[in-house]
Amino acid sequence: MKKTVLVASLLAAMLALPAGAAELPRLVQRDGHHALLVDGKPFLMLGAQAHNSSNYPRALSKVWNAAKDAHTNTVLMPVAWEQVEPEEGHFDFSFVDTLVKEARQNKQHLVLLWFATWKNTSAAYTPAWVKLNPKRFPAMLDRDGKPSYCLSPFGEETLRADKRAFVALMTHLKKIDADKHTVLMVQVENEVGTYGLVRDFSPVAQAAFEQPVPAAVLARQKPVAAASVATSGTWREVYGDYADEYFHAWAKARYIGDIAKAGRAVYDLPMYVNNALRDALEQPPKPWKNNFASGGPGWDVIDIYKAAAPAIDIVAPDIYTSGSEAILANLRLFQRKDNALWIPEIGNAEGYARWIYAALGRGALGVAPFGLDYFNYSNYPLGSPRTDKGMAEPFARVFGAFQPVQRQWAQWAFEGRTRGAAEGDDRKPQTLELPGGWVAKLNYRQWQFGEIAMDSNEKRPAGTEQPGGGVAIAQIADDEFLIVGQRTRVRIEPGPGVSGFMLRAEEGSFDDKGRWQMERVWNGDQVDHGLNLTPEPIMLKVRMARTR
Ligand code: DGJ
Repeated sequence: MKKTVLVASLLAAMLALPAGAAELPRLVQRDGHHALLVDGKPFLMLGAQAHNSSNYPRALSKVWNAAKDAHTNTVLMPVAWEQVEPEEGHFDFSFVDTLVKEARQNKQHLVLLWFATWKNTSAAYTPAWVKLNPKRFPAMLDRDGKPSYCLSPFGEETLRADKRAFVALMTHLKKIDADKHTVLMVQVENEVGTYGLVRDFSPVAQAAFEQPVPAAVLARQKPVAAASVATSGTWREVYGDYADEYFHAWAKARYIGDIAKAGRAVYDLPMYVNNALRDALEQPPKPWKNNFASGGPGWDVIDIYKAAAPAIDIVAPDIYTSGSEAILANLRLFQRKDNALWIPEIGNAEGYARWIYAALGRGALGVAPFGLDYFNYSNYPLGSPRTDKGMAEPFARVFGAFQPVQRQWAQWAFEGRTRGAAEGDDRKPQTLELPGGWVAKLNYRQWQFGEIAMDSNEKRPAGTEQPGGGVAIAQIADDEFLIVGQRTRVRIEPGPGVSGFMLRAEEGSFDDKGRWQMERVWNGDQVDHGLNLTPEPIMLKVRMARTR
């Protein structure tokens, strides 16, 4: 080929790539707002997490079918150490190959979940050659030297072996996906921590416990005042009654961070950890009393994880809490300038669907209901009693509403222009402060037309027996808002210091080029009693006018 032709065709190939296509998925933060950039642009993960045992080629069709029905764009799928390294040193990534190929065919991105040393704290997903060799891969020991069910974070051989397998996975991923970016992020281990034992008491762990707290931890994790007797020194001196659990968090974080760092050195994808929540309403948090998984990445030890595992970008909550107050508290606690909000698991029962509006409105990178595939295995009572399309439907409605606007939404969220709310268990009105000095007044269980008091029985609309309302609002221009939501009455009004009124409300959606397609203008009965978002999610574009 002549040189000029070669240059021309190279140029043509480059021009054919979307901007940023060569760039790996990565996380960015600006003014406390976060985005996952995919091919150079913010991406909103409308996710579904498969059941734990759906990670086999023949199982996948039940996953894709549910993902399609739920209108997701991202599937979260376990990759188990036992399946990729059944014999030590012999790797088999055929499942990963099938998964990535079929994800592309099904127009889904992927988040891979590395189930290895710890899955829900246990060693269940380690290969048999690990399980059968406790001498080489030691368990944590209690105060009497009795082994726990949980592998020790001080097992050097365990760390070496897990890391080698993880690096092999990341090396393979780079080979098959570096040009396409089907895989967006990787979760390292799953819901780590230990039940029933606050920390490892093995001699090597004990020796580490008696060392001074590392400077990186001291710099971030503030002591709980009443418990501390020193600002530096041993774990006990600095953290008092919290010393054991904080030390365990540090040991786990260091172990996981080491694995993540090695994986990123070969293929640099964003990485995160998830966790089984401790009580978010217990403020200040009391020392561990066998009431949560000690050492897991709970909200109160996010700083320890940040200090000990800098290769981990996000500490993420798995939300199965039932009360709305506790869910809201978790959203607040896990959303920080140094920690993007990302919800890799939320119950798949209908009542959780409304929280997607709250999370995406707050600027979350995404949300994934857990167990959203069509295996006949129900997660009730944590999740839905159903395992069919009826389980997917409540999420399909919400994800379907965001689908046409997903990339813009992620961009607006990154610019800090989005807000969101879910109906509380108390069913009470709420207020959202919007950019530009406007406020959105939210009401639930209202008729579309008229006021409850007009009906002498004060009856409430059918279908509102359980809380189901939710709304997300983005400021898309000065004094212009996009409202996405369901089962909520919204009134946008001037906040303090602003006067004005609603000039125009359009119902519509976005086309595949991101252009607004108006269906009709709401006026008269459709606006006289607020903007009543129907049980089926709806999208409204609202223009406000300032009178001063
Ligand atoms: C949380 C875990 O992270 C998941 O893998 C799964 O076990 C669910 N709990 C079950 O509800």
